[in-house]
Amino acid sequence: MPQIYSQILGTGSALPERATTNNQLADELALRGIETSDEWIRTRTGIEKRYLAERALTTTQLALRASQSALWDAGVSPEEIDLIIVATTTPDMVFPSTACQLQKQLGCKKGGAFDLQAVCAGFIYALTNADALIRTGVYKKALVVGADVMSRIVDWDDRSTCVLFGDGAGAVVLGASDEPGILSASLSADGTLDENVLGCTGYISGGEVFGEPFVRMDGQQVFRMAVSSMAESAQAVLEAAHLGVNDINLYVPHQANLRIMQKVAQKIGIDDSKMVVTVNRHGNTSAASVPLALDNAARHARMKKGDVVLMQAVGAGMAWGSVLVKWTREQDSAE
Ligand code: ACO
Repeated sequence: MPQIYSQILGTGSALPERATTNNQLADELALRGIETSDEWIRTRTGIEKRYLAERALTTTQLALRASQSALWDAGVSPEEIDLIIVATTTPDMVFPSTACQLQKQLGCKKGGAFDLQAVCAGFIYALTNADALIRTGVYKKALVVGADVMSRIVDWDDRSTCVLFGDGAGAVVLGASDEPGILSASLSADGTLDENVLGCTGYISGGEVFGEPFVRMDGQQVFRMAVSSMAESAQAVLEAAHLGVNDINLYVPHQANLRIMQKVAQKIGIDDSKMVVTVNRHGNTSAASVPLALDNAARHARMKKGDVVLMQAVGAGMAWGSVLVKWTREQDSAE
């Protein structure tokens, strides 16, 4: 039996309509008695604006738009999809899953559909799972989505977290191939770095909300952990693929904080010019951050056929991981 691999066939993304700049956000927060500034947010995080979902916009709708665009980009019809994985921490309901709602909206019925929850690392976890399932030979074409509406679970009275997040979705179509696209993947977690580091502990029981339904974070611990875990994870995927850091042509890190991204790139030994940066425009979109950045890079023709792309993310759990991909598509023309 020839070895089966998976390749990225297309990418897509979606954002809410309205961008909110730091100055606009500072004005809105001032009305609640919360003080912040464009200067504080920009210098600490690199974020200049973010897209916030209007009340009626759902995670599923964002996932649908990103998926439709990825399918179009790949030249694949919804009927060909036999696996859907949606990474999300902000599903529209407890169940049915966002993946099943997405399947209904896309009008496809073949194969399986499920949600995966690994917070900001969700897309990397989902992509690794989809790759593994395709390699079994059972699935031929997967839709892998990261979609989050974090604005619904941030506490707008907590300035240390609410300025960091944005909403959005990104998707890739993954297809079986006899040549590798995905070269290696590494997933890690350390459950001892629990909700005291980063968490949203709210849950429903008996029709009531218990715990705290808002994001809480020890920012400095997250910062330190993000830097050390990403550097180690990059090493793991490079070793597994028998490649060196100089083989990386494009670096797509989790877009949480520009200072984290630059420190990690420096630690791994990747030049800043190879790094995709969208955190300035999108903020931290959690599971959507990596596929949104990847799609942005594709739209701007940042990768050509044969390029090696490193994607990585870290988030609550804490959970983190990396995927190393050989880009197998012809170069997209820049928008
Ligand atoms: N505007 C103005 N001042 C603020 C704000 C704000 N939005 N938020 C906090 N401050 C104040 C604090 O109250 C504090 O004031 P004090 O000194 O008078 O007490 C001061 O700024 C410094 O606060 P610190 O928390 O020490 O600031 P720090 O330099 O650590 O930066 C930050 C905070 C940006 C959150 C940083 O720790 C960080 O980026 N951590 C990583 C967290 C992250 O990216 N999380 C995303 C989710 S997890 C993930 O995706 C990996």
